Amino acid sequence: MILTLHDNSGLLSEEKLSDLTKKNLHYLDSLDSLDWLMPLERDMLEACEWFGRVTSQDADVLIVIGVGGSNRAARAVYDCLGSKSGTQIEWVGLNYSAKEMNRLLERIRGKRVFVNVIAKNFKTLEPGLWFRVLRSWLREEYGDEEYNSHIICTGTPGSDLYELAQENGYIFVDFPEDVCGRYSAFTLVSLLPLAIAGLDIQEMINGANFMRTALEKADENNPALMLATARNYLYENGYKMEMLSFFEPSLERFSKWWTQLFAESEGKDGKGLYPVVGSFTEDLHSIGQYIQQGEPILYEIFLNVLSSEDRRIDLTDIPDGFEYLDGKTLNDVNKAAYRATLATHSKRFPCFEIDVVSLDEFVFGELFYFFMFTCCLSAKMLGVNPFDQPGVESYKEKTISDLKANI
Ligand code: PA5
Repeated sequence: MILTLHDNSGLLSEEKLSDLTKKNLHYLDSLDSLDWLMPLERDMLEACEWFGRVTSQDADVLIVIGVGGSNRAARAVYDCLGSKSGTQIEWVGLNYSAKEMNRLLERIRGKRVFVNVIAKNFKTLEPGLWFRVLRSWLREEYGDEEYNSHIICTGTPGSDLYELAQENGYIFVDFPEDVCGRYSAFTLVSLLPLAIAGLDIQEMINGANFMRTALEKADENNPALMLATARNYLYENGYKMEMLSFFEPSLERFSKWWTQLFAESEGKDGKGLYPVVGSFTEDLHSIGQYIQQGEPILYEIFLNVLSSEDRRIDLTDIPDGFEYLDGKTLNDVNKAAYRATLATHSKRFPCFEIDVVSLDEFVFGELFYFFMFTCCLSAKMLGVNPFDQPGVESYKEKTISDLKANI
């Protein structure tokens, strides 16, 4: 992974960023205890891989129930790379939509189903409600004697979910107490569903370890320190939005993970950059206009995948006005659109380019680690606590108290 600054707007040169970053070196020491970000130990990983292999043999479908940080990292990887074991994952517990629920129950009819409910303390209503419905479905399908072996609970020991699992004989695995949802990419919260889908979780951890070593460098070339410094500098200079853009739509779920990470970690105390996403080229035909000529409140980070699958564009004997496509591939065109976008946008505001070699488990491990580390550093610079979400909690509590009061 390589981070490069492109700025022809005159606001932020490489020299300037390097000077600013040097002044922020001490922030690296403020992250003294990142033990919670340490990827799983090898024996736990092997146990997780084994459990994934065994479960996938009996499961056509794994239903993951969880909301927010309880599913976004795993879903980012799954939606991009797909299932390699044959077990398909359904992601639910994200809303109260009867339509979504009815459709899901239709889709799973006649299939062999396992459920992984993921909730840190099991107070959140969305996963609680979906778990109740799917528990009933499993009981009807497999009977009282067998249904419990189809339920895997991921929660904190001592929580309501833990008690429920103990009382009813569900499988229980740990959601580490010192890790909040949006930082759980390297815990069983994410790794267990990915292992069941046959994805290479060992490679994901290798990517995270590789990035961890790179970010230990205490100098002005540390890419996380550079980006965290730039974010805060641009924010202080009137930029209110940070946009993550990419030319590969299978990164859309990754961008949802990224959005949550920064919005929940930094958007508090009346402060914080608002994270937005550009899925290009589609969004160039909508928000692309605002980016180019609207109010100058955003700067951009491009996630650039250097090598991906390709396809030659068909030749045609029907003149269609696109003769300049002859002999080219889809990637030739996508890269041309990327270069043109970067060139035009960087005339207006600073743009960062993050190059990744390809899209695979290793790269996702690198990206998760890089952004989580950057986010913690950046929140320290901003002076906010990256690990709480009082705004989200107040919505949860109000909904529950209104329901209890029958409002
Ligand atoms: O990142 C977070 O901590 C939050 O987004 C939570 O993951 C989300 O609110 C769900 O909470 P819980 O796992 O307790 O159901």
